[in-house]
Amino acid sequence: MINKVAKKMWMLRLMLLLSSLAAASSSNVKPGSGCQEKCGHVTVPYPFGIDNSMRAMNKNFFLNCSRRDSLPKLVIGDLEVFNLSIENGSMIASFFTAHRCYDGLGNRTSDYNEPYVKLGSRPWRLSDTRNKLTAIGCDTSAYMGDPDGSFWTGCISMCTNESAKLNESSCSGIGCCQILLPKSLKSLNLTLRSVNDHEDMGRFMPCDYALLADETFNIAEFLASEDKSSSNVTIEWVVKEKKCPDDPNSKVYGCGDNTACYYSENGQGYRCRCKPGFQGNPYLGCVDIDECLDEEEYLCEGNCKNTIGSYTCDCPVGMYGVGKVGCRGFRIITIIASCVVVLGLLFLLPIGLWRWYKFIKRRRKIKRKQEFFKRNGGLLLRQELSSNEGNIEKTKLFTSKDLEKATDNYNVSRILGQGGQGTVFKGMLTDGRIVAVKKSKSVHESNVEQFINEVVILSQINHRNVVKLLGCCLETEVPLLVYEFIPNGSLYQYIHEQTEDQLPITWEMRLRIAVEVSGALSYLHSAASIPIYHRDIKSANILLDNKYRAKISDFGTSSSMAVDQTHLTTQVKGTFGYLDPEYFRSSQFTEKSDVYSFGVVLVELLTGQKPIRLVETEENRSLAAYFLQVINENRLFEVLDAEVLREAKKEEVITVAMVAKRSLNLNGKKRPTMKEVALELAGIRASIGDSVLQQCEEIDFVDYDNARNFKTGSSSTGSFFNSVTFSVDGDPLLSNKW
Ligand SMILES: *[C@@H]1O[C@H](CO)[C@@H](O)[C@H](O)[C@H]1NC(C)=O
Ligand SMILES: *[C@@H]1O[C@H](CO)[C@@H](O)[C@H](O)[C@H]1NC(C)=O
Ligand SMILES: *[C@@H]1O[C@H](CO)[C@@H](O)[C@H](O)[C@H]1NC(C)=O
Ligand SMILES: *[C@@H]1O[C@H](CO)[C@@H](O)[C@H](O)[C@H]1NC(C)=O
Ligand SMILES: *[C@@H]1O[C@H](CO)[C@@H](O)[C@H](O)[C@H]1NC(C)=O
Ligand SMILES: *[C@@H]1O[C@H](CO)[C@@H](O)[C@H](O)[C@H]1NC(C)=O
Ligand SMILES: *[C@@H]1O[C@H](CO)[C@@H](O)[C@H](O)[C@H]1NC(C)=O
Ligand SMILES: *[C@@H]1O[C@H](CO)[C@@H](O)[C@H](O)[C@H]1NC(C)=O
Repeated sequence: MINKVAKKMWMLRLMLLLSSLAAASSSNVKPGSGCQEKCGHVTVPYPFGIDNSMRAMNKNFFLNCSRRDSLPKLVIGDLEVFNLSIENGSMIASFFTAHRCYDGLGNRTSDYNEPYVKLGSRPWRLSDTRNKLTAIGCDTSAYMGDPDGSFWTGCISMCTNESAKLNESSCSGIGCCQILLPKSLKSLNLTLRSVNDHEDMGRFMPCDYALLADETFNIAEFLASEDKSSSNVTIEWVVKEKKCPDDPNSKVYGCGDNTACYYSENGQGYRCRCKPGFQGNPYLGCVDIDECLDEEEYLCEGNCKNTIGSYTCDCPVGMYGVGKVGCRGFRIITIIASCVVVLGLLFLLPIGLWRWYKFIKRRRKIKRKQEFFKRNGGLLLRQELSSNEGNIEKTKLFTSKDLEKATDNYNVSRILGQGGQGTVFKGMLTDGRIVAVKKSKSVHESNVEQFINEVVILSQINHRNVVKLLGCCLETEVPLLVYEFIPNGSLYQYIHEQTEDQLPITWEMRLRIAVEVSGALSYLHSAASIPIYHRDIKSANILLDNKYRAKISDFGTSSSMAVDQTHLTTQVKGTFGYLDPEYFRSSQFTEKSDVYSFGVVLVELLTGQKPIRLVETEENRSLAAYFLQVINENRLFEVLDAEVLREAKKEEVITVAMVAKRSLNLNGKKRPTMKEVALELAGIRASIGDSVLQQCEEIDFVDYDNARNFKTGSSSTGSFFNSVTFSVDGDPLLSNKW
């Protein structure tokens, strides 16, 4: 039910709205120019009307159109109306002037009238702002007053000589005077007087004038014109001599649609005018202005759209600003700036992503390094090293970055050698030290502890004839070892790959190298805190420094007692040709296995032949076996190296050969210890001469305190080394450990 009623109400409202619209459009027809009345030249707009009073709003606006003359005149009583203005609420009408002329003797030559105006009850008044009472003459007084004579007011113009001639363009005050009209007059009497009737004064101005005129009045024009009987005044009219209603929305009497009421102080009442955005005759109703059609009046550079009472104007795409004021194209700078911003964003985004990617990558790398460090036993090593405080400085933990830099990122040109255990690179540390970096082959988890042990042990060895381990790097996937760099290659190269520019390897050198190597091995076997077996003694692992001093290297397969208590290994390691046959058979490595390998090196030094000989027959391929056979057949001097044969004394060669022979004994137990070998070789060397003796001071392995004990303990007049040499075999003192 409620719904139905609401629907009906809505329908009713719609109909009302439609009918009001229809009414508005019908009223719009009225102000059409074709329908406007005219009287002569003067258009008579509503609310005015002529002839038929029905056309005027009311009787107050009814005007007479006098058709007595050829051209019809719009008249109000005697006054002719020239112009009716709806906008200003004004009309322009003619008004009679008062004038009188004299002959200069006091006799009037033309008569005068006393004009008056009576607007009656109409809501019309003489404008007090536009109109003025003007008197012209040199003996003239002009007055105006209401017909009742309740007030009079006026001005007097007197002048005595020609200098007072009228200023013709305006009323200067000499020869003419002006006063404003009193407010809101509806009727007025005008009077003109001459004080002296122009007897003396005013001879040069024979006429007096008194007139009401608006601002269009011009004295010169007036004086020049023939008909001086009238002047134009402005009359203001209002719809009603009332104030506007307080409620601005209320329908005001006389005003049409879309209008507003306004009060005129002069007219003492209200008038109507169109609301902003509307046009037309406000007394008939105003219609919306289509501003978009009038581009001159209503500026719009954009897309104009008319609305009721107004219009919108949006700047077109690509322009900015207020359309009603003016649209502007984007300035080049704005375009460039926005391009820069966009490009910047496009540019920054990948950079940001790249940075982020880098960051992630770096973090992953660091994590990986830490993992490697852990896996490679870094923690264990660090612990070991810190428990062994004296050596921390010597063994350094290098970072992977250090070594990458040192080896020029493991450049192929830096490779010194490649072996079963890994690749050795030459590198230069930031402090300028030349080093050899050994990149181990993958280290299995199970070997890590051993590897660490090895590093720890090597770091503890500080022997002149052992390659010094400077440090290691555990951050990489495979551990890296950093050694001091030994410039002159290996003994193997020196013996077997002699180049022409190399010094020939003298007997003296051979002997010294043998002494140095045996001394270092002896030290490793017995003097170091835990016995260390090299397990891969061969001439290729004996390096020569710049003074051709021997340096044992490559402890990759070495083991210490601590790690390998049983000496039993599942895998026989070593190099064929140097390998102890007993160890090969039993898989049990002993200190004598190193002695055997050293024996082979001795034979190499003596014969200059490789451990595996290049001969057809299988049995004599091993240099060791061949050597033993040669000794047995007493043909030693047939196989000696030419250099040795030339330089060495027979006894020295024989002694060294004997040491080699015993070292190569197939029964390990019958081989001498490394210490015995060392002492024996040192003895031979000492016997060579005093000059050599001095060099012997460089032999580190000798414990000098013990040596002195020997010396003082024996009455031998020979050198300490001599006495040792002869007491090696079976000497209980020497076969015991130092
Ligand atoms: C009234 O005067 C105005 C200008 O003063 C003029 O534009 C208009 O046409 C005049 N009206 C008539 C009816 O003469
Ligand atoms: C118009 O003329 C009639 C008769 O001639 C007169 O009664 C009336 O007052 C006149 N109206 C005006 C406004 O002059
Ligand atoms: C209305 O008054 C203004 C100045 O007040 C004037 O410029 C304009 O011409 C007048 N319009 C008419 C139709 O008299
Ligand atoms: C006016 O003129 C007449 C002659 O035309 C003369 O008689 C008379 O005296 C003059 N003056 C006055 C004041 O009438
Ligand atoms: C104003 O003029 C009228 C008409 O001439 C007249 O009847 C009236 O008496 C005059 N009023 C005065 C005060 O002179
Ligand atoms: C006009 O009057 C002024 C003083 O009012 C006087 O100085 C001047 O000489 C007079 N001129 C003539 C032509 O009389
Ligand atoms: C009239 O007055 C104007 C200024 O108001 C002045 O420039 C002009 O010279 C005067 N003319 C005469 C003849 O006095
Ligand atoms: C009065 O105004 C009308 C129209 O504006 C004009 O034609 C006429 O000449 C004017 N009359 C005088 C005396 O200025």
